[in-house]
Amino acid sequence: MTATTPLLAIETSCDETAAAVLDDAGRVLGDVVRTQIDEHTVFGGVVPELASRCHVEAIDGVVREALQRAGLGLGDIAAVAATAGPGLVGCLLVGLSWAQGLALARGIPLLAVNHLEGHLFAPFIGQRSPDFPFLGLVVSGGHTELVLVRGVGDYDLLGATRDDAAGEAFDKGARLLGLPYPGGIHIDRLAQGGDPTAIDLPRGMMHSGDLDLSFSGLKTAVWQRIQKDGVPEGQGLHDFCASLQEAIVDALLRKASKAAKLHGLKRVVLTGGVAANSRLRSAFEAAALELGWTLHVAERRYCTDNAAMIGYAALQRLRRGERSSLDVDAHPGLPLGAVPGVGR
Ligand code: KG4
Ligand code: ZN
Repeated sequence: MTATTPLLAIETSCDETAAAVLDDAGRVLGDVVRTQIDEHTVFGGVVPELASRCHVEAIDGVVREALQRAGLGLGDIAAVAATAGPGLVGCLLVGLSWAQGLALARGIPLLAVNHLEGHLFAPFIGQRSPDFPFLGLVVSGGHTELVLVRGVGDYDLLGATRDDAAGEAFDKGARLLGLPYPGGIHIDRLAQGGDPTAIDLPRGMMHSGDLDLSFSGLKTAVWQRIQKDGVPEGQGLHDFCASLQEAIVDALLRKASKAAKLHGLKRVVLTGGVAANSRLRSAFEAAALELGWTLHVAERRYCTDNAAMIGYAALQRLRRGERSSLDVDAHPGLPLGAVPGVGR
């Protein structure tokens, strides 16, 4: 079998242009994330066309910098990986075609990566392979999924949001409160010093009998409250943010605990952009102590979108002899578990 490391990984599914270099042990040798937040903030959200153009402009420089940090040149790279979905199609195509070009020019293996699989394994970056089985909670701007993970590619989707993702609940709430995009981090900061019990906000689907979640009722409740009382200020804003954050964290923890109990899982993985949230992390840490879980939380820099997690997921599959065909396409709605164009 040909060598697959050092591996270069590229992530361009949304509004971060990222590249990373990993070694065979799953360690990150060089890692660069260039965010486009400043470009999109004025529009209050990600503008897909603008995002693709920014990726085109950034990608060469981002890859060069990641290689530089790893102390390597392009000629040292033994395999290349890129996110093929889910994400914005124009954005995905930028990273994927860059990787395809390199694979073709250098005759090295290519691996198309599922972005969700990247998030799922992110807490294990730095160790050779993930510990299985585990209950994975992926919480990001586009996803809220509870997954039973038995091994690489062996997943059961146990529950998911029926409407808004957890990150959207943070971002839409923040927008109603007049905070900049993306709002999750602003809510996190403002919630410190706030009273999480100050405002009674709904936790959707807590008695649904399944493991699904819903955050649209929370958004409506926030809107109604602001319509009635206006946008809070001072201590009121801290209290509002703490209460909104608590409603999201509480709903996530309750469904995750239920899933772990139902499926007899004692290993829990918390990952995705929202897993950077301080309160979510501390609530899961407390639950782990109480319920005897072994908890794996992604490092903050590997919670939000990055290429190290894409490289790490790619390594797991490359090791099994998997390769993607050079004409693999981007798949905006790629479901968890699916890896496009892969063969051995
Ligand atoms: O994983 P990610 O970078 O992109 C997607 O794949 O969606 O997640 C971005 C999401 C945004 O909704 C953002 O507001 C949220 O993660 N986020 C946070 C925090 N940091 C990022 N939400 C709550 N608290 C944070 N500290
Ligand atoms: Zn993501």
